[in-house]
Amino acid sequence: MIRLDDERARSFLADDDLNTLWPNVQEAHEAVLNKTGAGSDMLGWRDLLLDPDDALLEDIEATAARLRRDADVLLCLGIGGSYLGARAVISALTPYLQTHASDHSPSDDAPEGLSVDPTAPPEVRFAGHHTSGAYLAELLANLEGKSVFVNVISKSGTTLETALSFRVVREWMQDQYDNPSDRTIITTDSDQGALNALHETHDFYKKYVIPDDVGGRFSVLTPVGLLPIAAAGIDVRSFFYGAVSACETISADDEHAAFRYAALRYLLLNDGYDVEALAVFEPKLQDVGRWWQQLFGESEGKEGTGLFPTVVQYTTDLHSLGQYMQQGQRNLIETFLMPETDPGSLTIPETADDGDGLNYVAGKTMSDVTHAAYDGTAQAHTDGGVPNMTLRFDEIAPGPIGELLYFFEHAVAVSGYLLNVNPFNQPGVEDYKREMYDRLGR
Ligand code: PA5
Repeated sequence: MIRLDDERARSFLADDDLNTLWPNVQEAHEAVLNKTGAGSDMLGWRDLLLDPDDALLEDIEATAARLRRDADVLLCLGIGGSYLGARAVISALTPYLQTHASDHSPSDDAPEGLSVDPTAPPEVRFAGHHTSGAYLAELLANLEGKSVFVNVISKSGTTLETALSFRVVREWMQDQYDNPSDRTIITTDSDQGALNALHETHDFYKKYVIPDDVGGRFSVLTPVGLLPIAAAGIDVRSFFYGAVSACETISADDEHAAFRYAALRYLLLNDGYDVEALAVFEPKLQDVGRWWQQLFGESEGKEGTGLFPTVVQYTTDLHSLGQYMQQGQRNLIETFLMPETDPGSLTIPETADDGDGLNYVAGKTMSDVTHAAYDGTAQAHTDGGVPNMTLRFDEIAPGPIGELLYFFEHAVAVSGYLLNVNPFNQPGVEDYKREMYDRLGR
């Protein structure tokens, strides 16, 4: 369950602001439910939860099982919505220091492609999300001798960063393996785009379809996110059904925290607070922040409106951005993202001589320290003029993470309608591409 503690944001608003806005929030919510708002032909991200496709989940689990059996590394090529969701969930739900199949080099006489430890998930690596040749070259050098499978993820099939990486990786795979096509999975449009054309020639091992009515930043619950997440050894079904449950709850609850979150951001934006920092204390959640950043930035940031979304990881960033947060321009709001249960903790030991003077915290856990830091930061930032709220979710586990991602998807749809923009398009993204293509002589 997701809870929103919003007193430290509401205290910056007039008493009746929220009540006055509420009919508009309800109207926006109805427009999402009834598909009557701008861009409503792109609401497929809700349909796939309202009518779950268990056969697809089974298929994805079967492919993931093959990857766990045969791959040391799953290399995912994609950018933006075709990469941030999978990365967010995998970062959140896998150990900081994980043993992967590729950590055990196969013995010389092991059959090609068979990892020594068949239970260890492949390492999921990402590429195709920037234009660094150095990164790609180092990555490929590092992959030598490993059993690599590729999942190229691109709805359009034409995104330059991803398409170029795929070209380079394909050449490399041709040198490495007898049958590179059998190690290649494409996730793309049902029939359009270059990946479909390549599939006709190369007959890749597997193709997954991104539904027409699901945009990139809303696609984490399609094969775009589900396959890499399952391959990483995460319980993809619990993740998916966590989102299903949030979709059912939020759709049926007019007072849900998702609406208060959208409404408070809107009211604060109208009061000149035009930057929102999503603050996490658990480093594992930083990539969820990067996913959220795209979701909100691309959905709201158009026609001269929207809050600029940024992510901060505390306490690390309190030692770099803390000064600005406390005393810089007062156009900031802050949303703390806190699990009710920490993913693990350790107890601070007592020492006989107390040489470092820290025995005053001996016996407490690192979680206790995190919570003191969170509480203290929220209070200090309130006093410093930063409206803030706290989103609490049960724990960093597949179901609650699925729930959380849907919460944000629904909230941003409502928020876009409050701002009077189409939350499902991204016309501004094309401008840099046009300029870049001109310079490359396309
Ligand atoms: O949200 C979006 O639509 C974008 O971030 C796209 O996902 C991104 O540009 C990649 O596009 P494509 O999947 O067509 O390669």
